[in-house]
Amino acid sequence: MKITTPHHGCAWITGASSGIGAALAVELANRGWKVAISARREADLQAVAAQHGNIHGFVCDVTDRTAMAQVTTDIERALGPIALGVMNAGIYLPTALPQFDATLFDRTFEVSGEGHISLISSVAGYGGLVTSAAYGASKAALFNMGESLAMDLKDSGVHISMVAPGFVKTPATDVNEFAMPFIIEADEAARRIADGLAKNKTHISFPRRFSFLLRFLNLLPRSTYVKLAGRFMGR
Ligand SMILES: NC(=O)c1ccc[n+]([C@@H]2O[C@H](COP(=O)([O-])OP(=O)(O)OC[C@H]3O[C@@H](n4cnc5c(N)ncnc54)[C@H](OP(=O)(O)O)[C@@H]3O)[C@@H](O)[C@H]2O)c1
Repeated sequence: MKITTPHHGCAWITGASSGIGAALAVELANRGWKVAISARREADLQAVAAQHGNIHGFVCDVTDRTAMAQVTTDIERALGPIALGVMNAGIYLPTALPQFDATLFDRTFEVSGEGHISLISSVAGYGGLVTSAAYGASKAALFNMGESLAMDLKDSGVHISMVAPGFVKTPATDVNEFAMPFIIEADEAARRIADGLAKNKTHISFPRRFSFLLRFLNLLPRSTYVKLAGRFMGR
């Protein structure tokens, strides 16, 4: 599988007005990518774009299909074909998923016959976690969908990767009142994601110790998993 590079086109990160998406925009721009960032908060997008000349903001709500189709056109007009799509926009991402095989990426990938779509899931998608009933279910669905897409698109030239961060310090986790083991900064998460993308990894998960621990716990009988994972997170 060919590795997608800045040579093939631009990168688009949804949900990049703060947190992991914003940090990843700066990281990819520093690695030579032209980066389109989208989100709803225009001022925050502009503040991220101001950090690097190769970052360009596009206001768009991922739950608005028409707006997403329009922003795809706008990005390609401004920056050229989208070669790397990082679907990062929080819990609203699943709402936008039907557009993967419909209007959003079709044209780009039909024209170029290559590309990379990265789905930002979470270690919360491996199994249930404290306070993650809705969130974890959506992230588990994302893994399932990404794996299916990876199989279906195997010979298409389009690479699918799934990213499973542990806890990352962002506005989203600042509200958590429970202990967040192995939490890392958004810059560090962005570096790990960019490294994984550059190696065409299918599964990018970090921090390693937390990810291994959760994957190990998920090999146990489910009742044991529920007991141990809950206890590990202070319940
Ligand atoms: N932080 C963690 O510990 C952690 C761990 C694992 C996975 N993740 C995943 O990483 C991704 C980024 O999360 P984060 O922690 O960086 O949170 P964050 O700082 O709150 O960022 C969420 C981003 O999503 C955007 N967004 C939310 N709803 C949107 C909508 N309807 N349309 C367009 N953009 C929307 C927000 O921008 P606007 O409000 O401006 O629209 C913001 O830029 C999420 O998918 C999250 O589930 C995070």
